[in-house]
Amino acid sequence: MQREMKAIIMDRFGPSSVLEYRSVPIELPSPDEVVVEVGAVSVNRTLDISVRNNGDGRAVKLPHVLGVGPSGVIVELGASVRGHELGERVAVLATRCGQCNACLLGRRCERQFHPGVERWGGYAEYITVPSWTCRQIPDDLAFATATVMLRHDPTAHHLLETVAGVSPGERVLVLGAAGGLGSGAIEVALRLGATVIAGAGADERVAAAIALGAGAGINYRSEDLARRVMELTDGRGVDVLVENIGEPSLWSAAFACVAREGRVVTAGAHGGGTVPLDVRRLYQYRISIHGSNGRTDDDIDWVLTQHQIRPFSPLIGAIMPLAQARLAHDLVERNAITGKVVLDPHLHLATPTI
Ligand SMILES: NC(=O)c1ccc[n+]([C@@H]2O[C@H](COP(=O)([O-])OP(=O)(O)OC[C@H]3O[C@@H](n4cnc5c(N)ncnc54)[C@H](OP(=O)(O)O)[C@@H]3O)[C@@H](O)[C@H]2O)c1
Ligand SMILES: [Zn+2]
Repeated sequence: MQREMKAIIMDRFGPSSVLEYRSVPIELPSPDEVVVEVGAVSVNRTLDISVRNNGDGRAVKLPHVLGVGPSGVIVELGASVRGHELGERVAVLATRCGQCNACLLGRRCERQFHPGVERWGGYAEYITVPSWTCRQIPDDLAFATATVMLRHDPTAHHLLETVAGVSPGERVLVLGAAGGLGSGAIEVALRLGATVIAGAGADERVAAAIALGAGAGINYRSEDLARRVMELTDGRGVDVLVENIGEPSLWSAAFACVAREGRVVTAGAHGGGTVPLDVRRLYQYRISIHGSNGRTDDDIDWVLTQHQIRPFSPLIGAIMPLAQARLAHDLVERNAITGKVVLDPHLHLATPTI
């Protein structure tokens, strides 16, 4: 008889009340798949909340299980899986298969998908995925840390090193600095030798960003962002702006902070996404704006290697039982917690651990 697991199932799109904790069969692995017992999965603004609300324009089939980037332990191997073993600790990532024609030609993988979007994800006790989505993680890396770190830091590295080409000594302004991608960008920028000014919308989030190593912090809801940045940079501005919000007023204030030859990078638009652009500053200052999404396997390698040299400290605000997914979504939607909210299927507490 097929074994069952607890999972958070969505039968329709809508508010957090569409998330139901119930039993479903564990999907049997096909020959190239593995079953991973989930140790942690993060709650994300776009790929979880927007997908839950309306599918976010992505190929989501109902009933659906959310949850991108879970990590856990391999507990079952398909008959033809090679290179992985039972008991191996892994992160499940949207990555390249390395085998299809596109992969062999160095193009975007034909089989690439996000577990948690185009097929069932990690809001469950178990997830069944192709073995090539699994990336081994070190024994001493906690699942919650692995999940948050690998969700954001490779993308942050891609934005900062590959896209913006940050060099040592450059000044980087990070908005949403205590968010997942923002806090990852602080840690990555520092490792690339940059100095960081952190912008966040609450004093406690500014403080969290400074604790991560940002040289200065600004509360952009209570202070004049552009004036403070100019004070901190002797009137020059910042070389790189990491902007993953796309909120009109914040964008304008932040764009006014960008120095000559500066670069703006973005991989997010949850603040609205349509912003005014000061075209005069854009051309007079020779500023370039770069959109980018995702990361390459090289970015994942960079993060894992850096972590071995000196551990990353991703901001985790709460680790909650899987059964509390509704509450977790509400907390993220209300921006009520500093740091990432993580779900752990092994926790069965009545209250979250914050
Ligand atoms: N393409 C990729 O590979 C990739 C990967 C990860 C994330 N992303 C994108 O990057 C963005 C950030 O994701 P995340 O996971 O880092 O989110 P997050 O942890 O929730 O952080 C987002 C931050 O945005 C700030 N913010 C400012 N204005 C906001 C507004 N109007 N509504 C909500 N938040 C606002 C909040 O900080 P304050 O309240 O302090 O301002 C919050 O901390 C999202 O748009 C996401 O889709 C892209
Ligand atoms: Zn491929």
